[in-house]
Amino acid sequence: MEEALDEYIEAHCSPEDPVLYRLYRATNTQLTRPRMASGHMQGLLLRMLVGMVRPRRILEVGTYSGYSALAMASAMPPDGELFTFEINDEQEDFTRPWIDAAPEADRIHFVIGDALTVVPTLGLRFDFVFLDGDKRHYVDYYEMARRHLTPGGYIVADNTLWDGHVVDPAYDADPQTLGIRRFNDRVAADREVECVILPLRDGLTLIHHLT
Ligand SMILES: C[S@@+](CC[C@H](N)C(=O)[O-])C[C@H]1O[C@@H](n2cnc3c(N)ncnc32)[C@H](O)[C@@H]1O
Repeated sequence: MEEALDEYIEAHCSPEDPVLYRLYRATNTQLTRPRMASGHMQGLLLRMLVGMVRPRRILEVGTYSGYSALAMASAMPPDGELFTFEINDEQEDFTRPWIDAAPEADRIHFVIGDALTVVPTLGLRFDFVFLDGDKRHYVDYYEMARRHLTPGGYIVADNTLWDGHVVDPAYDADPQTLGIRRFNDRVAADREVECVILPLRDGLTLIHHLT
């Protein structure tokens, strides 16, 4: 039933951009851990969110193959720019050519480095942040993103249900599950934001900073 519903949803959503389709295929054939890439539905949603918010500056923590970066960049306003961080330097050879080939390449800053240490040195503020790095450090990303968020800005965080492990006692000692639970608790207790968890894929939290 769930599979049939997935197919139905897929058939009734806009088709995948041909470049993103090819990137997703290349991610699956050439990289280990291809499940980390956003994919069609989440890419569409991120694209729409960027189209709605029209952020001047986007921050992404965790580029991987570049799928979500290219999906978001495609909806940026003409003066928009995207800073995407990838800590794993072995990812650069695969991802850089895809980013360089994008129509928005001159407005995408693909940085190899730890977002937690590099972002604070930039002296920039972001209107839209996508958190998709190491689940153990989600709270650290959140605190960093909050410090560099423009008033009224948005933070979107991926994997916030972590395959349902957030409510499964079997994962009470799992560091990644604990990281996601800490993040969800922190966001829910933050009186300066409003948030909603969408049960899309692995859970996607939308956070709006209240001014
Ligand atoms: C789930 S993947 C990102 C997928 C990509 N955002 C997408 O949706 O297509 C997570 C990536 O975050 C990277 N990462 C982990 N910690 C990071 C950090 N502190 N700064 C930058 N990148 C980080 C990992 O190396 C990995 O490639």
